[in-house]
Amino acid sequence: MSSLTHKHIVLGISGGIAAYKAAELTRLLVKAGAEVRVVMTQGAQEFITALTLQALSGNSVHTELFDLEAEAAMGHIELARWADLILVAPASANTIARIAQGRADDLLSTLCLATEAPIMLAPSMNRVMWNNPATQQNCHTLKDLDIRLIGPASGAQACGETGEGRMEEPEVLLNAVASHFQTGALAGLKVVVTAGPTREAIDPVRYISNRSSGKMGYALARSAREAGAEVTLISGPVHLQPPEGIACVRVETAEEMLDASLKAVDGCQVFIATAAVADYRVAQPADQKHKKTQEDWSLELRRNPDILAQVAQRPDAPFTVGFAAETQQLEDYARDKLVRKRLNMIAANKVGQGLAFDQDDNALEVFWPEGHQSLPMQSKDRLARSLIALIAKRLHSSDNIIDIQHAKN
Ligand code: CTP
Repeated sequence: MSSLTHKHIVLGISGGIAAYKAAELTRLLVKAGAEVRVVMTQGAQEFITALTLQALSGNSVHTELFDLEAEAAMGHIELARWADLILVAPASANTIARIAQGRADDLLSTLCLATEAPIMLAPSMNRVMWNNPATQQNCHTLKDLDIRLIGPASGAQACGETGEGRMEEPEVLLNAVASHFQTGALAGLKVVVTAGPTREAIDPVRYISNRSSGKMGYALARSAREAGAEVTLISGPVHLQPPEGIACVRVETAEEMLDASLKAVDGCQVFIATAAVADYRVAQPADQKHKKTQEDWSLELRRNPDILAQVAQRPDAPFTVGFAAETQQLEDYARDKLVRKRLNMIAANKVGQGLAFDQDDNALEVFWPEGHQSLPMQSKDRLARSLIALIAKRLHSSDNIIDIQHAKN
């Protein structure tokens, strides 16, 4: 599975002969599923054209800090927030120095200063420039700032010399970016995720359902897979493609989802219930299409089984994570569900006009018996990665560690 599906990568290109390799790097990133936005310094534009990078990335290339049109389309702060990772390749000695000093005198350095995303640099320069104590000191500063350097490699250089300073090859840089997202936090564990709505038939053509898009559940399944887990996704009817490398079981009704969940949770260590399960089904769905003969029509509804509660109450219950969609008293209702359903964790979000359902962004308040963490408004993909990291952390905490050891043996 490519771990770059849905990842937002800002590729910064600075001035150096290796800039021509950024074209191949862009192609590889896009092929691996990433969405790439290229930022070029003035120096970079002397070596390779923006048009090439625009054609390869499928997005317009950003070059200026003060450009009215570009700022209106996607401003520099927006771009800094959009990035899941910034890769600067090639990173010239000058760019390295400017990022190390926290300068903000062009678009690329400003982005590096304005982002909370991780930054990776692929140094590229003549071997004497690389070995210069000033460059080495800048690189130490970068490491202290948690900025990762990939390379440089050794070998023949464009200037005719041989030594350390060549930019790493595009394939090496691609792997470094991909492995950043493969955290291994759930390696060796089995995770089951329910997602989407359920559909409860009224008659052969009508049903009761809800607005759930399945986006959060699919993003969680993908993130759990990236974290090294073996994932089963049990999905109600949605318009999403099952993520690669994940076993997907398609269901319609709550009862079908329950059956599939009970089968899948055998031997699993984590169960995440994101599905918006219909609380009620029609007591007796009609065999034939209902005709509008009467003025009023009442449906008798019957309570559906609570899938999450049933899984959490098993003697061999996995680490169970529920979701709570609330319009008010978020913490009270969420904590009540945490206790009542005997969950290990609950992720609560506010719902209502323009919030959560069918949106690409969401925010969560996550509660567990002895703690709480807020995950602010962000894309569901990024939110899913944060939640999976939090689940892994709680799972590996001293309270739960014994179960995991058991799973791995
Ligand atoms: N859930 C489930 N099976 C159901 C109902 C809900 O597995 N039949 C799971 C959902 O996937 C979610 C959590 O339980 O993780 C939501 O709990 P629920 O009590 O249904 O929440 P609400 O529908 O928000 O409840 P209410 O409005 O009744 O408080």
